[in-house]
Order: sequence, then C-alpha cells, then structure tokens
Amino acid sequence: MTDADTTTATADWQAWQKSWDRQQEWYLPDREERFRIMLDMVEALVGTAPRVLDLACGTGSITARLLARFPDATSTGVDLDPALLAIAEGTFASDDRVTLVTADLKDPDWPAKLPYDSYDAVLTATALHWLHREPLADLYGQVAGVVRDGGVFMNADHMIDETTPRINAAERAQRHVRMEQARESGVLGWTEWWQLAAKDPVLAEPTARRYEIYGDHADGDMPSVEWHARVLREKGFGEARPVWCSPSDTLLLALK
Ligand SMILES: C[S@@+](CC[C@H](N)C(=O)[O-])C[C@H]1O[C@@H](n2cnc3c(N)ncnc32)[C@H](O)[C@@H]1O
Repeated sequence: MTDADTTTATADWQAWQKSWDRQQEWYLPDREERFRIMLDMVEALVGTAPRVLDLACGTGSITARLLARFPDATSTGVDLDPALLAIAEGTFASDDRVTLVTADLKDPDWPAKLPYDSYDAVLTATALHWLHREPLADLYGQVAGVVRDGGVFMNADHMIDETTPRINAAERAQRHVRMEQARESGVLGWTEWWQLAAKDPVLAEPTARRYEIYGDHADGDMPSVEWHARVLREKGFGEARPVWCSPSDTLLLALK
C-alpha cells in the first residue's frame, strides 16, 4: 500500500491489486481456494484455452488468476465501477488477451457492448449480491444468452439458507469476531480502502465518480443456492449445483 500512497503521476497497479485482495480476504478468508476451484471446474468443463467473460470484474481478480494458470485463455471484463476498472486497465494495459468493458449489468442491453457473441465460461465472484432478485433473474437470462451450448456459468457469492437461522447467526457472529481481530492487526476494511483510493492522485477522480454511481455499496439480495440453481435452469441452463461451499459462501456452477 505504501507504493500506491506515494505515487504521483501513475499508480502502482500491482500494489493496488494486492491491497484489494487483502481487503476482500478480510471478508472472505477462503477467497483464493474459491478461485482455485472455479478454475479447476473451468478446466474440467471447457478446457485450458477458454474465452471467458469476467462478470462484474472489479480489478480483474478472476482474469488475473485465469491468465496465470491458462496462458492461452482470453478474457473480457465487464464492470461499472470507474475506479476498479482503472486498476484493471492499468494492470492489463499491455495484455491483448484482455478487453475491458464499462457496462451496467442492470441495463438489458449490456451484452451488446461485448466484443464476442458467445463465451465458453462466464465467471463472477462476490458481486451479484449487489442486485435484487428480479434484476438478478433478468441478468441470468442474459448470461444464458452469451454462454455457448456446453459452456459454463459460475457464481461465487454469499448465498443464504434461510431455513437455518441459528447456524447462520452463529457463523456470522464468529466471522465478525475474526474480522474485528484482523482489523485490530491493521487490515483495511471496505470503507477505509475506498478512503485510501480517494486520496490517490490517479484514483481520486474515478473514485468520486464511483460514489456518484453506487454510494458506499449497492443494496441487493443474497438468495439461497436453491433459488440460484432453479432460476438458472429456468433461464436455459441444463444442470446447476454447488461445486464448493464454506460456512458463508457458495460456488455455484451451471452448465448450458
Ligand atoms: C466486491 S467487487 C468484486 C470484484 C471481483 N469479482 C473480485 O472478486 O475481486 C463487486 C463488483 O461488482 C460490480 N457491480 C455491482 N453491480 C454492478 C452492476 N450493476 N453493473 C456492473 N458491475 C456491477 C462492482 O462495480 C464491483 O466491481
């Protein structure tokens, strides 16, 4: 973080990537394992040179791991956040395997902005809980339209089973205690991370724009695994089930 703090003309994109990862891991200690299983399932179902859509890509966390593991893959990252996209653009500026697209996933015409009509895999993480159920169901219909037959969609996110309220409460309480402990040892949370971005000479302007778009954070839903799997089947996927879960998170795979 110190590099990014002291940058004047250009930002240290790798330092921003690292600090983004640390901030996200504060919420999701199993984040790297979740990405690893996601890429295992990409390999199992569509091979090692896939054309991938990194949906709500943020800084391009999935894209970075995809290309490190599968150098022959290509990726289109889509997001609406100008600051996170600036970090992604800085990171992948000289990589012609990556295309970045600014689009609102609540806009039904977002697929028209993509450079390709179809993808082997559409991958997303820690993002779709920013949408409420109705726009998310619409988005799943649009995702089904861009995944080729035999291709996959994977969503790694918080998915809450409302039939287990006591388990949920105990898990949440433990997670929050651990988060507070980590914070005491200096980990940056969401708000502090954005405060730092707002002070960076390069990221200040796009950070101001992202606050105009989202406020602090969009307000969506966290439906159950069953809801996600059912809606994905209704929208055109043939099979859908979790391929990984933690006490708070699920990686759901849908096969077209
Ligand atoms: C917590 S970040 C996760 C980013 C990345 N997938 C990761 O795991 O690091 C959530 C992302 O969802 C994006 N997002 C939320 N709602 C969106 C929308 N309606 N259209 C496009 N992107 C959206 C946000 O801009 C943000 O980049």
